[in-house]
Amino acid sequence: MSKTVTDDGFVVFDRVQKSYDGETLVVKDLNLSIGKGEFLTMLGPSGSGKTTCLMMLAGFETATHGDILLDGKPINNISPHKRGIGMVFQNYALFPHMTIAENLAFPLEVRKMSKSDREAKVARALDMVQMGSFGGRRPAQLSGGQQQRVALSRALVFEPDLVLMDEPLGALDKQLREHMQFEIKHIADNLGITVVYVTHDQTEALTMSDRVAVFEDGRIQQLAPPDQLYEEPQNSFVAQFIGENNTLQGVVKEINKGIALVQLDDGSLIDAKPVNVSKPGERTQVSIRPERVEFDMSRLNEGAHTLKAEVLEFIYMGDIFRTRLRVAGNDNFIVKTRNAPDQVRLQPGQTVEIGWQAEDCRALDA
Ligand SMILES: Nc1ncnc2c1ncn2[C@@H]1O[C@H](COP(=O)(O)OP(=O)(O)O)[C@@H](O)[C@H]1O
Ligand SMILES: [Mg+2]
Repeated sequence: MSKTVTDDGFVVFDRVQKSYDGETLVVKDLNLSIGKGEFLTMLGPSGSGKTTCLMMLAGFETATHGDILLDGKPINNISPHKRGIGMVFQNYALFPHMTIAENLAFPLEVRKMSKSDREAKVARALDMVQMGSFGGRRPAQLSGGQQQRVALSRALVFEPDLVLMDEPLGALDKQLREHMQFEIKHIADNLGITVVYVTHDQTEALTMSDRVAVFEDGRIQQLAPPDQLYEEPQNSFVAQFIGENNTLQGVVKEINKGIALVQLDDGSLIDAKPVNVSKPGERTQVSIRPERVEFDMSRLNEGAHTLKAEVLEFIYMGDIFRTRLRVAGNDNFIVKTRNAPDQVRLQPGQTVEIGWQAEDCRALDA
C-alpha cells in the first residue's frame, strides 16, 4: 500500500513551460508539487513530455517559462552537479574502464570525500542492491540486470534527498523488471528519499508510486494515488490509459439524484455516475471496468438498467474467466469474472443480460 505523504512542496514545478524550437510547447503549463519522501511517477505515452520535465529538474534543460523549486529554493540557475540529485536512466552508462567500486566512488571523489569514507559508502551502497561481492568487476562482466543495480546504487551512494529515474527498467526482461520494481520501492521507502520516476508502463506506475501524474501532450491529465487513478479516472484519456476499460458512446437523457441516465447509440438505456457531464443532451463516453460488470442481475440495486449482450468469446484463464461480448455495437466489451466453483461458463453465440451499479460506471467526456 502506498504511504501517506504530506505534500510539503519539496519539489515544485510552478507554471513551467518548455519549447525546444521556440514554437511548440512540449510542456504546456506544469504545476506540480511533490512531498518529501514521496514516490511520484510521471506516466504517459511516448512524447508526452515526461523526460523533458525530468531533464529540467535535473538541470540538463532549462524551462522556457516558470520556476522549478527544490526545498523552497528556485534552482533555475543552479548547475546540475550542484543540485545534489541522484539519477538513473535506461542506458546506465557506467564507465567501462573502471571497476564497479570505482564507478561508485567517482561521484564521491568529485565531492572530495576522504578515501575511508568513500570505501564505507561504496560498500554500503553495493550491499543495498545485493551487489556487495561485485565491487572488483568491470561493467562488461555483469548482466544487464546487475548493471542496472549498480547504476541504482551509484545514484544512491552520495545519499541524495532526491533521485530521478527515467525508464530505468526498460531494458530488462519482464520477470527481472517486476522484481526490481519492488526492490527500488523498498530501498526508496527505507532510505526515505524522494523519487521522481518516469515510465510509460502503467502497471509499473501503479505498483511503485505514492502518486501518479498522468501526462498527455505536455499536460497532466490527472494526479492521484494509484487506487484513485484506477477507480476514479477524471476523464476518458485516463480511463483508457490506466488498466483495462470498456467504453460505450451515448447521450445524457437526465441526471437525477447523482445518477445519469444515458441513452447509448443503439437506443438502450444505462445508468452511470456523472463525472464530467452536467446536463441532458450532452454526448458522453461511459466507462466501466471489466471486473465491475455483473452477469447476475440479483446483485444489482432495484431499478438498475440492464443490457442485452452477445457472447463472442469465453476464455478460461485460471484465476479468472474473460468474456468478450458485443454490447451496443461494441465488439470488444470485456468482462472478467472470478473463477468460483458456481460460476457459469458461457458459450459463444449465447445472449446474456449484463448490468452494473451506477457508481461503478462513469459518464466521461465524449
Ligand atoms: N532535445 C530535444 N530537442 C527537440 N525536441 C525534443 C528534444 N527532446 C524531446 N523533444 C520533443 O519533445 C517532446 C516530448 O519529448 P519527451 O520529453 O522526451 O517525452 P517522453 O519522455 O514523454 O517520451 C517530443 O515531441 C520530443 O520529440
Ligand atoms: Mg522519455
